[in-house]
Amino acid sequence: MLDLDNRPLLKAESISVRFVLFNRRETIMSSDDRANRARASDLLARRIEINRSFSSGDFDGWLLERLAVKPGEHVLDVGCGTGAQSIPFAGMVGPGGSVSALDISAASIATLQSKIPAGSRVQAVASDMADLAGVIADTFTTKQYSLAQSSYALYYCDKHLHVLDVMRGALKPGGRCAIFTTNRPHGLVDLAARFSEIPPEVEGPLRFGPTVLKPYFENNFIRYDVQHFHNVVTVPSTDILIEFYRQTTYYDANAEEKIRAVVDDEVKRSGNYQYEKNGYLIIGFVGG
Ligand SMILES: C[S@@+](CC[C@H](N)C(=O)[O-])C[C@H]1O[C@@H](n2cnc3c(N)ncnc32)[C@H](O)[C@@H]1O
Repeated sequence: MLDLDNRPLLKAESISVRFVLFNRRETIMSSDDRANRARASDLLARRIEINRSFSSGDFDGWLLERLAVKPGEHVLDVGCGTGAQSIPFAGMVGPGGSVSALDISAASIATLQSKIPAGSRVQAVASDMADLAGVIADTFTTKQYSLAQSSYALYYCDKHLHVLDVMRGALKPGGRCAIFTTNRPHGLVDLAARFSEIPPEVEGPLRFGPTVLKPYFENNFIRYDVQHFHNVVTVPSTDILIEFYRQTTYYDANAEEKIRAVVDDEVKRSGNYQYEKNGYLIIGFVGG
């Protein structure tokens, strides 16, 4: 083995260098680890719980009010997770409507299925959204939708423009397509960026609304609306913030102690740590 100056290392040095390199590799997430983390059902459930507990804005209520789902409507939910939107949709569409939900995580789909209210028409399928066209053609009973929606999910798929084409193509005349995405400014990402490199898989989604969705909607719908969700997260303790940070796709163990120190100072000074976490909703309409 060679050292950084290409000198041969003594055996003891070699062992300690290998140990350091091994530890370093353990603390830095690969793209695959990040994708797995984005899909993990248990991490998703805990992130939702923490967000709901400490956010100034009621995201679920805000989104559902804007999507204004009516009885009898047929809804497609792409990247449905454990059902944060699908389950309320099931109640809103009533027995005359339906919800077709898809997520790549089989565990999340199983959780969603366990929550489906009796008597409602919800079909939930584990599949990659890149294969949405095939799932609509071969598996979903409903083929045409009044609303096709995806929240906090579309940017995880490399083929998001193809998925948008499929969602748009599956709309009934007069139907709407709604995509919600995270958006800048994001205080926790900004804090993490002071001590670690933020991976492109995280930076991309934070600019996804204005840079990818807006041009697509401008070119492919007869009309579209953009609405901004403003939210302040107030975390009462350093441990809770660190627990949340550990479940994010931008977690870096090398940055944890530095982040802990900054948050600790602020919690001691003002009793909590606050950061902005914003969102971007775009709704496009097709001709009637
Ligand atoms: C942050 S969660 C959002 C879930 C839900 N819409 C909500 O708001 O709670 C992102 C979801 O996208 C799913 N996902 C990621 N990549 C996907 C893909 N290629 N196809 C389908 N679902 C995917 C994950 O499994 C996860 O459930």
